[in-house]
Amino acid sequence: MKIEKAAQSRWDNQSWKNAGFGSVFSDHMFIVNYKDGQWQDPQIKPYGPLNVLPSLHSLHYGQAIFEGMKAYKGTNDEAFLFRPEQNAKRLNKSAVRMCMPEIPEKLFLEGLFELLRIDEKWIPNDGTSSLYIRPFMYGSSNFIKARPSTDYTFIIITCPVQTYYTDEVHVKIELDYTRASSGGTGAAKAAGNYGASFYPAKMAQQEGFQQLIWTDGNNHQFIEESGTMNIFFKRNNELITPPLSDSILPGITRDSIIKLANHNRIECIEEKIDLKEMIRGYESGSISEAFGVGTAAAVANITSITHKDQKLEFKLNENGLAEQLKTNLQNIQFGRSEDPFGWRIKVN
Ligand SMILES: Cc1ncc(COP(=O)(O)O)c(C=O)c1O
Repeated sequence: MKIEKAAQSRWDNQSWKNAGFGSVFSDHMFIVNYKDGQWQDPQIKPYGPLNVLPSLHSLHYGQAIFEGMKAYKGTNDEAFLFRPEQNAKRLNKSAVRMCMPEIPEKLFLEGLFELLRIDEKWIPNDGTSSLYIRPFMYGSSNFIKARPSTDYTFIIITCPVQTYYTDEVHVKIELDYTRASSGGTGAAKAAGNYGASFYPAKMAQQEGFQQLIWTDGNNHQFIEESGTMNIFFKRNNELITPPLSDSILPGITRDSIIKLANHNRIECIEEKIDLKEMIRGYESGSISEAFGVGTAAAVANITSITHKDQKLEFKLNENGLAEQLKTNLQNIQFGRSEDPFGWRIKVN
């Protein structure tokens, strides 16, 4: 792998904290191109502009996919990744759905580890912040014809981020717009899924909500996800979450929370969640917690869910199941506890 180091590091311990989430990037990036049917010339070079032409295929036809993951630092300045091979696998599933070439998992992981070793000082060590990692791939041919790109570019960039924390998360059940339809691209981390979600999310924000709960695209009858997180409810003494489908992103945090819950002898049932049944469960007292899970926030308690004129309120329970699972998960991620699952991978 060719490595070109930045002449001068831009790192300082303050500016990224003052900037918004995901807007200060570390010194280097990993980049590899797909041409003539193969990935070639992987390199690490200073983070900087890409030389693109207006005919760049992905700007027109949207063959663009990405991943989101984090590197964490533990007490002895040891750096860890959390289940990185799962992100490599999911990227390749997204690639297949979007008619893009898969990237060998080994190349993805070697590029990532080398990049993190070079930019290690960018991984925050305060025990709560982390280095957000954004691998992405786009069609990089230059032609405007509605057929798949022949060339592709895969890049990894990283940015230090503070813990994503909101004490109030008020969400609205979306009954008009759809994030993902059956047969569509919802299970892929395709850029267009996010572009299409911004307008309904903006409408909800104007009404005072932080996020939406997406319902199925056929009849808006079943709960699917919350914003960019998978969703869980506590029902009596168990957890329920919608089963994976082609309209739900298979979250790595979702999978980890299910396994952690089972490890703690809490049953987690993957079942279709009928919106009206969930509301009846809330009214009868059987549904007592609602939370979203994802890389950005780990676990985020939902404070209220609004369905038409009805507002279901959930009191934050610091001893609740969501908080307990969040602590378990973050203790593994930051190297503060045993890792019975082998999820934590050392970087340095
Ligand atoms: C639509 C959507 N659902 C769920 C998730 C959670 O996935 P993960 O736990 O892998 O971050 C994300 C975030 O990546 C997302 O964008």
